[in-house]
Amino acid sequence: MDSPLYGVSIFFSIFLLSSHTLAALPRTSSSSSSSSSSSGQINSNSVLVALLDSHYTELAELVEKALLLQTLEEAVGKHNITIFAPRNEALERQLDPEFKRFLLEPGNLKSLQILLMFHIIPSRVGSGDWPVSGSDPVRHRTLSTEHVHFASKGSGEKVVNSAEIVRPDDVVRPDGVIHGIERLLIPRSVQEDFNRRRNLRSISAVLPEGAPEVDPRTHRLKKPAAPVPAGAPPVLPIYDALAPGPSLAPAPAPGPGGPHGHFDGMAQVKDFIQTLLHYGGYNEMADILVNLTSLATEMGRLVSEGYVITVLAPNDEAMAKLTTDQLSEPGAPEQIVYYHIIPEYQTEESMYNAVRRFGKVRYDTLRLPHKVVAQEADGSVKFGNGDGSAYLFDPDIYTDGRISVQGIDGVLFPPEEETASEKKTSSPVKVATKPTRRGKLMEMACNVLEVFGQHRFSCQ
Ligand SMILES: *[C@@H]1O[C@H](CO)[C@@H](O)[C@H](O)[C@H]1NC(C)=O
Ligand SMILES: *[C@@H]1O[C@H](CO)[C@@H](O)[C@H](O)[C@H]1NC(C)=O
Repeated sequence: MDSPLYGVSIFFSIFLLSSHTLAALPRTSSSSSSSSSSSGQINSNSVLVALLDSHYTELAELVEKALLLQTLEEAVGKHNITIFAPRNEALERQLDPEFKRFLLEPGNLKSLQILLMFHIIPSRVGSGDWPVSGSDPVRHRTLSTEHVHFASKGSGEKVVNSAEIVRPDDVVRPDGVIHGIERLLIPRSVQEDFNRRRNLRSISAVLPEGAPEVDPRTHRLKKPAAPVPAGAPPVLPIYDALAPGPSLAPAPAPGPGGPHGHFDGMAQVKDFIQTLLHYGGYNEMADILVNLTSLATEMGRLVSEGYVITVLAPNDEAMAKLTTDQLSEPGAPEQIVYYHIIPEYQTEESMYNAVRRFGKVRYDTLRLPHKVVAQEADGSVKFGNGDGSAYLFDPDIYTDGRISVQGIDGVLFPPEEETASEKKTSSPVKVATKPTRRGKLMEMACNVLEVFGQHRFSCQ
């Protein structure tokens, strides 16, 4: 086995040497402050974030080792990308150990970078965009500037160069797509570099056949994985499924067939509300969701239809700082809560990994079009900016694979509103000294709504 290749010292040296080597590379800026249009932030639903979180762990690791994240971040800031991701086995076992050693030598960082960039096309090429079998192959320039060829074999399998696409459209994101491929693609220049170093004329870097995979339980050959993962997410974006609400785009009529109802979303929402109440310190949030608004029901419906959500739940202390001004607008409680719901499933680990790797990450919220920015701070995740920021305070209060609840220590507002509300004279709410049966926020909202004559729920 070739495990000694992965010696800590080798990787450590790559990192040490990287700053010199990078300076000589095109497309890679050496200081993080010089990132251009993307302003040093990446969207959490970026294909790049998805790659690092995907099952293509070997490729993701190589991309990080090759110090390519910033370059790729800039690329997705400008255009879509298509990533060809070799399955892990292709990098673990099917690669000539000597070639792998060559790639991981600190002095060959540039070869590693070229090799990886050879797997990325600076545009979106979905599986539907392949040439049909029988027609001529189509050339695409890669980020390494060398070209790859797309073709379909007689039997219909799509290939890129000599590698078969085993998981077409495996990951699809707004800024790109990942296709799983059977083996590593090796650009000519890297192969030649390798050959030259070895001082040998012709040697193939890839072993001709991958070792067949044997299932250790059945001792039979493993079947190839299904191309589309089971339980695929709903086709429509979550915004189309949202009930119409104040200042939200009106939701279209339900599509034919109605809700899929694959999951008992209501039970899951009840579960997480119960968990919030038992956890303690989040009663206001629970009360808002259940009693002040119909958002608990709304969330249950969305989850039933297959959507996933992450709730950033401000704790009671944070809620107590809300002012009457901030709640007096009709629909304000809903708007506040919508800004705390991310239409993705994120855990403490996934968010922390994202901010640690990218610095700043923008998450979509259900309050269109506002996003919430997260960054690493003090070994934790901080949301929002300046005074209006909140720390991840009680991570993973509830996580069931569809709903994730993360406790935070502040109430978040979209940046423009934060400044607007600061100008107003704000009258802070008196904090109750002992816990009251009804949430203080609830009482206050009831008072406000009485003034406006709006009774959509019981204020008794
Ligand atoms: C990426 O592709 C999507 C879908 O084709 C398109 O809507 C979007 O504008 C593209 N983004 C960029 C930056 O070109
Ligand atoms: C909703 O209101 C009822 C009645 O006042 C109360 O008993 C219940 O605890 C509230 N629910 C939550 C989640 O706070």
